[in-house]
Amino acid sequence: MARRSPIELKSAEQILRMRSAGLVVARTLQAVRAGARPGVTTAELDAIAREQIASAGAVSSFLGYGGGFGLPPYPAVTCISVNAEIVHGIPGSRVLAEGDLVSVDFGVSLDGWHGDSAITFAVGTPSPEVAALSEATRDSLWAGIAAARIGGHVGDIGHAVETSVRSHGRRYGIIAEYTGHGIGTAMHQPPDVPNLGRPGRGELLTKGICLAVEPMVTLGSASTVTLDDEWTVVTRDGSIAAHWEHTIALTGSGVWVLTAEDGGEAELTARGVPFGPLGS
Ligand code: MF3
Ligand code: CO
Repeated sequence: MARRSPIELKSAEQILRMRSAGLVVARTLQAVRAGARPGVTTAELDAIAREQIASAGAVSSFLGYGGGFGLPPYPAVTCISVNAEIVHGIPGSRVLAEGDLVSVDFGVSLDGWHGDSAITFAVGTPSPEVAALSEATRDSLWAGIAAARIGGHVGDIGHAVETSVRSHGRRYGIIAEYTGHGIGTAMHQPPDVPNLGRPGRGELLTKGICLAVEPMVTLGSASTVTLDDEWTVVTRDGSIAAHWEHTIALTGSGVWVLTAEDGGEAELTARGVPFGPLGS
């Protein structure tokens, strides 16, 4: 990726467009989650997302992605990664079963402005350790988001994610090969947003920066393997993985979580961090 090109700074009006895209993403992920139960295929969940895209008049950020730079064009509107699949699982004939841990990653653009988010949930009742993995990953996402501030650095986010995961007591694996990213007029922009880091390192965070923060955490090692489909990334040791993601904006008044229905108000306030919505 073009890591050295300048970071795209968004105006308030542009961030409001990204908020519209973010709400489509948030609502679609909830619709997909509501459709997940034992016996449903991942292709059926992708179809739910396609219907949401159509009714919102949005454009998939994922469908066709990668064609033209060495990867086969991505064939779906969601990535659905089950159990040992970490990210970029392609929806298909896989049938969900009781206890599966499912990560759904989804992005759209509206008027050319993108939103990107991922959630992880269990089908039925997960084992306690799998439930704890997903909760630790979600908690680390919010810790990372809460560490983002104007005048800070990208490394602050990764440091907060890493510290949060490590605070959960178990020896989780934190994926380093895949990172969050800048987002705006394209789904993937500079800067990379790693899930490990050192405070004060990396790009300076300024007003109008929009980022996708997306920790991927495993019950085992952090080594990955990409399957022959050239997309699906799995854990090398077969351990279960979770993935949570939000698109955020740094506004003059704080952080606005564009892909959270409440804009991040509840989680940011609980962490004592300024919540920074724009508009009325
Ligand atoms: N949304 C993923 C990310 O978080 C990328 C999906 S790859 C695609 O960066 F091919 F499906 F688009
Ligand atoms: Co992303």
